Amino acid sequence: MGMAFKSTNSLAFLLNHLVPYCHVSLPFHALTFCTLTYNNATNTSCSSSSRENVEIHSQNQNQFLRFVRDQCKTGNIRNLDHALGLFDRMIRMCPLPLVRDFTQLLGAIVRMRHYSVVITLIRQMESLGIAPDVYTLTIMINCFCHLNRVDFGFSVLARILKLGYQPNHITLTTLVKGLCLQGKISGAVRLVEVMENNGYKPDAITCATIINGLCKVGETNMAIRLLRKMEEGNFELDVVLYSTIIDSLCKERLVTEALNLLSEMTSKGIQPNLVTYTSLIQGLCNFGRWREVATLLNEMTQRKIMPNVQTFSVLVDTLCKGGKLIEAKEVFDVMIQRGIQPNTVTYNSLIDGYCLQNRIDEAVSAFNMMVEKGCSPSIFSYSILINVYCKNKRIDEAMCLFHEISNKGIIPNVVTYNTLIGGFCRVGRPHIALELFHKMQACGQLPNSQTYAILLNGLCKNKQIAKAMELFQQVEDKTLCHIVIYNVLIDGLCNAGKLMTARQLFYCLASKGLKPNVLTYTIMIKGLCKEGLLDEAGDLLEKMDGNGCSPNDRTYNTIIQGLLQHNEIIKARKYLKIMVDKGYSTNATIATMLDDLLSSSQADKNIQELLQEFV
Ligand SMILES: *[C@@H]1O[C@H](CO)[C@@H](O)[C@H](O)[C@H]1NC(C)=O
Ligand SMILES: *[C@@H]1O[C@H](CO)[C@@H](O)[C@H](O)[C@H]1NC(C)=O
Ligand SMILES: *[C@@H]1O[C@H](CO)[C@@H](O)[C@H](O)[C@H]1NC(C)=O
Repeated sequence: MGMAFKSTNSLAFLLNHLVPYCHVSLPFHALTFCTLTYNNATNTSCSSSSRENVEIHSQNQNQFLRFVRDQCKTGNIRNLDHALGLFDRMIRMCPLPLVRDFTQLLGAIVRMRHYSVVITLIRQMESLGIAPDVYTLTIMINCFCHLNRVDFGFSVLARILKLGYQPNHITLTTLVKGLCLQGKISGAVRLVEVMENNGYKPDAITCATIINGLCKVGETNMAIRLLRKMEEGNFELDVVLYSTIIDSLCKERLVTEALNLLSEMTSKGIQPNLVTYTSLIQGLCNFGRWREVATLLNEMTQRKIMPNVQTFSVLVDTLCKGGKLIEAKEVFDVMIQRGIQPNTVTYNSLIDGYCLQNRIDEAVSAFNMMVEKGCSPSIFSYSILINVYCKNKRIDEAMCLFHEISNKGIIPNVVTYNTLIGGFCRVGRPHIALELFHKMQACGQLPNSQTYAILLNGLCKNKQIAKAMELFQQVEDKTLCHIVIYNVLIDGLCNAGKLMTARQLFYCLASKGLKPNVLTYTIMIKGLCKEGLLDEAGDLLEKMDGNGCSPNDRTYNTIIQGLLQHNEIIKARKYLKIMVDKGYSTNATIATMLDDLLSSSQADKNIQELLQEFV
């Protein structure tokens, strides 16, 4: 530690190798204020103060500066105004205080997270001729990193090197952290290498920072490798490090590996904490490994680590999603018995669980219980219930909840609107769906491509083709135009007997820069079959592989159904064979059609022979 960057060499190295590697370019306006010229600290305000007062003055000054130092150290700076007041007084002092007095105050402002203010203050100091030292500049780097401008941070580093200062360990670690914060993990790893090559031994904090960053971007394997390196370097590993990696492994569904790390840490005498256990329980729950969940819960009790609301919520949520509502309710009750109040997340899981099974009454009573217990329903709670009402065509009750949302001052989100728009279409009231669509925009809620897909589908199903086309023109002008929207519209047009328009849209996709997906092809094939254009349907299917989009079982079922409906037994047989060879199977509808064909009296022997093997 403390070894110098081999100055010019290393600077060149950093700027030429590291910086481009991090996709960082040196921005000009950052450079301009990095190369500001210094005035000398002697200024007019100083020379104007009278000589006689200097003695008393300097006593007061020292007292004041000591006071500022104490305030900073004891964390007594109340707020930004307080800090700015002190700063103001300091810059009016004569002689000006030392840079390290300022740095201390700046540190306090950083702790209040006023990052851009600190940068401005440093500029102000410079304009007064107070040259920042490496600590000040490190603070500046830290601020830029927090403002997501690690690139400016590097410009400051360049300046540190140019001034002939030695960046210290914290300077570089701060940049490592900044890179991690912006997800530039490879850049961070590279910077650590540069640090190592220049004699800076990365410390536990640097490594932990990188491990955290790696985990956040899902590079768990690299995180584990770094952990191993830390072990080799005899760094002290702690529960936070292990928990971070365990959590990441669980998120990547590598639960066995996560459990291995748990035994590794305990064998080293590092005790898992609540966070570690909650991650593992979540991981095991995702796989329905309930027995192991129970083991962990017991282990927790033995270690006197009490599950908290998060732990219980994980259990309730997974049980609900898996349809185990009785068990979910049991866990929920245990939680309350233990004096842990369920939160909005817990209630939402329970409500959602009931809704998934269409048990509306129980969902509503869970919702009411939530309100009674003083836990505020979120927009998500309302949206779940609105959705289940809409699915069951109970649109009035859905609307009732929607009004309740507005009365409570909660702002409906795009999902809420999409659900209701779909609900009104489903009950054959597309005009109200359209009204809602306009209302949401008037309320400042932008529709997403899902909104358009739902509304277009609803308009087509309700035979409002003209309205659908009109809406479609609006989407086309926006960047929202997604293949999903075309799929909905092409399907709607086909079903409404507007094959020509549908076909036109389909063949124009490429010119719009969109690629049809399997569903698009399948929809088009269905439309063509419906109108008896079987050859064109066949040609389209043959072209799919060449266009990088292989037909799936749905595509085959569709064309086979079309061919059978038009009595094209031989052609249907061809696709049946391909389908079976590819390992797909016919769906129930096709199976029934084949059965009927075989058993019907008209079926001749040829057909029997042709189709026998597929029944
Ligand atoms: C700044 O002040 C110092 C000490 O008073 C002096 O040695 C130095 O030459 C001055 N620098 C400039 C650029 O005036
Ligand atoms: C320092 O001197 C410059 C040049 O005379 C002047 O513009 C500036 O306002 C002075 N700063 C203070 C704080 O008096
Ligand atoms: C079978 O596939 C055809 C064509 O895609 C479809 O129309 C039909 O609804 C499907 N039947 C079942 C039971 O999924």
